[in-house]
Amino acid sequence: MLKYSSTLFMNKYFPQKIIKEIVKKISTPVYIYSREKLIKNFKAYQKAFSNFDTLICYALKANSNKAVCSELAWLAAGADAVSGGELFRALRAGFKPEKIVFSGAGKTREEIEYALTKRILMINAESFEELLVLEKTAKKLKTAADFSVRINPDIDPHTHKFITTGKAGTKFGVAPAEAFEMYLYSKKSKFLNPVGIHCHLGSQIDSAGPYKLALQVVAGLAKRLSSAGIFLKYVDIGGGWAVSERNGKMKSPEILFKTLSSGMASLNGVKLIIEPGRSLIASAGILATKVLYRKKSGKKNFVIVDAGMNDFIRPAFYGAEHLIIPLVKRKGKQVNVDVAGPVCETADLLGKNVKMPLPEQDDLLILYPAGAYGFSMSSQYNSRPRPAEVMVCSANKWQVIRKRETYRDLIAGEK
Ligand code: LLP
Repeated sequence: MLKYSSTLFMNKYFPQKIIKEIVKKISTPVYIYSREKLIKNFKAYQKAFSNFDTLICYALKANSNKAVCSELAWLAAGADAVSGGELFRALRAGFKPEKIVFSGAGKTREEIEYALTKRILMINAESFEELLVLEKTAKKLKTAADFSVRINPDIDPHTHKFITTGKAGTKFGVAPAEAFEMYLYSKKSKFLNPVGIHCHLGSQIDSAGPYKLALQVVAGLAKRLSSAGIFLKYVDIGGGWAVSERNGKMKSPEILFKTLSSGMASLNGVKLIIEPGRSLIASAGILATKVLYRKKSGKKNFVIVDAGMNDFIRPAFYGAEHLIIPLVKRKGKQVNVDVAGPVCETADLLGKNVKMPLPEQDDLLILYPAGAYGFSMSSQYNSRPRPAEVMVCSANKWQVIRKRETYRDLIAGEK
């Protein structure tokens, strides 16, 4: 059961007054991000890793809005892209090509060619066949491809199975033994230049233990490689540091740093790359939605709101339980409500058994944290235009960073 909490509005990032003002002008549903909180999250990472040669590559998939990305690029972050589209967005937002890494189990030839022409830091190859395509493409372009191999270290990150990626049996990366063969192969090719090892264990990982185990596997492979005369410059350990769905808090990046820096001890002179997505932006965003109707079904109280699973899919898809709070608390006894959207699916719930005084029609509910995997996973399902996105820039300044879609947008490109 989710508990009512009003602390969110007492903090300086999402003052009630600004939320009301935004909703009045922009309507709902609307994603609202705090620039200040985003910067604070990034700086916490920077500070934690300041004594270690580290490149922080923001995972764009968490939130690829240009304003969010540009802010991080401006703070000298690198970027982690997983599609040609994300690479395009990263470059357009101002991330330096030499700070961009490119992962993904299914990169197309066109995407690989695009990445090579942009001369990014490295392409993380996820299969032997991909490495061969990479070689062919580099040959065509008369260049040598800087690459790493994404290994699958077979480690359980103890998270939801949909976001577990570093266990054998998932589609990601290759076993260390196969990776070794790939590096050996590349040694004979003038179009392949091995520069790193990559690994990403999963998402919502709330202890450093799995990272420690992963670095042991990485270090073992790096040692074998150096015996074979292959010396790497980078270890990219991926992202995945958790953020609580209940209150938006994350464990200090210091904890992660301690484990990673000690795991890197045997890898002298190798630069560390980390790819945080959620932990930079989740707590810097809320989703504001309006109450449309209240009703009962059996014994259940339903509050139907104007944001649905197409706008925020995490509860329906992963069973995630985010905090849902009324912007203004009504008087009266607390009841248990299911907060549902307008989409024609029973799974279209934003929250189950949320405890709050029954809200009135037109009241605003706030879903938090919503900055990560919110808008970026939204769709137009049920022909619903996607919500607007707004950035709060300072105490009383905000701007629309993506317009609400219109009905016309729904049919753009159709004949
Ligand atoms: N690097 C790679 C290669 C990844 O695949 C991911 C996330 C990250 C970094 C960033 O992970 P983060 O720090 O954000 O946990 N839609 C899911 C999360 C999927 C994450 C996929 N990969 C969710 O809403 O929980």
